[in-house]
Amino acid sequence: MMKYNELSKEQRDAELSALWEDMNAIKEKGLQLNMARGVPSPEQLALSKEMLNVLYAEADCTAEDGTDCRNYGVMDGIPECKRLMADVLGVTPDMVMIGGNSSLNMMFDTISCFMNHPVVPGNPAWSLIPDRKFLCPVPGYDRHFGVTGYFGFEMIPVMMDDNGPDMDKVEELIQDPSVKGMWCVPKYSNPTGISYSDEVVRRIAAMKPAAPDFRLMWDNAYCIHDLTDEHDEILNIFEECEKTGNVDMPIEFCSTSKITFPGSGVAAMAASENNMRVIKEKYQYQTIGYDKLNMLRHVRFFGDYEGMKAHMKKHAAVLKPRFDVVLSKLGTLEDTGAVWFNHPRGGYFVSVNVMDGTAKRVVALCKEAGVNLTGAGATYPYGNDPYDSNIRIAPSFPSLEELSSAMDVFCICARIAALEKMNALI
Ligand SMILES: Cc1ncc(COP(=O)(O)O)c(C=O)c1O
Repeated sequence: MMKYNELSKEQRDAELSALWEDMNAIKEKGLQLNMARGVPSPEQLALSKEMLNVLYAEADCTAEDGTDCRNYGVMDGIPECKRLMADVLGVTPDMVMIGGNSSLNMMFDTISCFMNHPVVPGNPAWSLIPDRKFLCPVPGYDRHFGVTGYFGFEMIPVMMDDNGPDMDKVEELIQDPSVKGMWCVPKYSNPTGISYSDEVVRRIAAMKPAAPDFRLMWDNAYCIHDLTDEHDEILNIFEECEKTGNVDMPIEFCSTSKITFPGSGVAAMAASENNMRVIKEKYQYQTIGYDKLNMLRHVRFFGDYEGMKAHMKKHAAVLKPRFDVVLSKLGTLEDTGAVWFNHPRGGYFVSVNVMDGTAKRVVALCKEAGVNLTGAGATYPYGNDPYDSNIRIAPSFPSLEELSSAMDVFCICARIAALEKMNALI
């Protein structure tokens, strides 16, 4: 196979009609496959099923400080769960608050809090800044963009490369005092799968934003979600910010959604004393306390951080073959020169850049063939991918056989869309 840009018009047409034959044969199969969202497979969920047996009717539900976890109380989490999640977050337990079942919920709450209550006393709350802005490294996580969009921030895309966000651009943009924060998924980023380099983390920690209430939303959602033993390591943002006198800048989040059960895990956040004071004041009115039985269940199931890391190896054993299928199928497209994709060492996604101007077409073609993908553009604020190129593939949920069929469809559709585009351009 030659690179598509080296084909003559006749060769392109011949290739297109062969591909359409394949496509029509696939359509007749009436496939119904889904690679749209990063959802653990039933096999992965089964890995945590024993957690449901940990708290049986006669079990002792007393936390180590004597709290009866069946009852009201303890706003920021039982001590043993704070300790466990502190290890996951790379901080000390006093910096941690345990929330409910969703870290996204805690991120939403945090921004909601700063909208109405100044995070830096004496500064206006964010809702009082009419032209408030948030930096959004792209491609990124659509639900982050949903949160800042909902709260009326103008979202400014900043391109990501293999090392993280374009820091020259970030350093320029933070000179504007109405830029109030930045979304970051520092490890195995959603969707590109890259981890921030040490240099990028150090530059982030050393930033001097014009806004004293600029906050980093450090969403460490994939902090222990390695696919292989050779995994990425990132610098600890709090340690780096300690060195630069910026310890109030980061707020870190994580959850066990993709460790135990999504929607029934435990979420946690870590922040400096100053930030926590403002955040906890809000939580104090918002809740009497989150689900302590679930916290206890998690702690008893894992024992400690080492237990949790051992559990993640079981996830990796299920996930790695799925990523391998996706990557080897995408490898067959490389000869066309029409796609670029990453080789993540962890996380939940493979980010594919198809030929510029064809992502929407690829997603639509896949849909026609019964394969559901994340909408093109979803990885950009306002759903607007200026290149119409990025597609996020989520390999976790389908079985290996389904994934293999779905990727065959994807590859055919990416080829068709590229050839159509070239025919239209040339
Ligand atoms: C980067 C990132 N953050 C947060 C979440 C959601 O986390 P939670 O289930 O804890 O709300 C996801 C889920 O896909 C994610 O990819």
